[in-house]
Amino acid sequence: MLIKKPGDIRYSEVTPKAVYFDRRKFLAALPAAFLAGRELLSPSARAGAAGKFPTLAKSPFSTTEKENSLTDVAHYNNFYEFGTAKDEPFQLARNFKTYPWTVSVEGEVAKPRKFSIDEILKLAPLEERIYRHRCVEAWSIVVPWAGYSLSALLAQVQPTPKARFVAFQSYYNPSEMPAAQHAGIEFPYVEGLRLDEAMHPLALLCVGMYGDALPPQDGAPVRMILPWKYGFKSIKSIVKIRLVEKMPPNTWNTMQPMEYGFYSNVNPNVDHPRWTQSSERRLGELRRRPTLMFNGYADQVASLYTGMDLKKNF
Ligand code: MTE
Repeated sequence: MLIKKPGDIRYSEVTPKAVYFDRRKFLAALPAAFLAGRELLSPSARAGAAGKFPTLAKSPFSTTEKENSLTDVAHYNNFYEFGTAKDEPFQLARNFKTYPWTVSVEGEVAKPRKFSIDEILKLAPLEERIYRHRCVEAWSIVVPWAGYSLSALLAQVQPTPKARFVAFQSYYNPSEMPAAQHAGIEFPYVEGLRLDEAMHPLALLCVGMYGDALPPQDGAPVRMILPWKYGFKSIKSIVKIRLVEKMPPNTWNTMQPMEYGFYSNVNPNVDHPRWTQSSERRLGELRRRPTLMFNGYADQVASLYTGMDLKKNF
């Protein structure tokens, strides 16, 4: 992905090589206090999302693969509003105020409305979904997220027949996110899905991970998780969801259309122009493993794309 000047420094290049390839060295360099699990959630995030979730239903969509640790996942992030290096968001987002929080759901809907984060937390039973999550940079993680299908939220506002796509927008305030001005991408961060993708049960409206509220660096207090798509589709810290008629813009496609498409389904047969997508490295492991079509979720989602040329619609 691209930072600073278009066509200049890009996404995978912002990660220092030593950090990218030697995760343990990276962790050893961090102050011990930052590594303690309880340090990972800021007080603001805890206050808003009411701390630990007492009951989380198990999901049939969960993988049985070994989970990454909270420490790994919460110290290796892409959240350009809080810096472009993987270890920056957990430091620079520490005081990000994520409560109170409101998400406006609007556009082509019969009942537009604003939802407080407390309303979102109560809208449907929270499930724990252990998903594989594959970044376009070819690293992957396995995370127990908490949330429920986005379809439960969309049902509340009743999309009209004109609604064909869903446009998402992240929170942006330059005074709270001074690092954003050096990120080289436009803010607010935006993303989009076709309505049938957004309504798919795997599309998770996510409010937590590891049984607790989301840490700010992981997109508190509410984000998307789309396990069959590259990680950049999983937009963080959402403030607006708009149902629309036409395909909405998404940040990385706007910045670099030849490299990042609208669909961005995980596809080992379509390489990124600058690197292979046929294999990946799970965070904490050295060996590479083969990347699976739709990140291993083909049985559930392949039918969404029947008849489409996935090389063109990448
Ligand atoms: N959302 C916002 N608002 N800003 C971002 O920079 N980065 C994306 C996505 N969502 C990003 C974002 C990218 S590139 C990835 S890989 C995932 O978040 C990373 O999520 P994680 O840090 O929880 O692993």
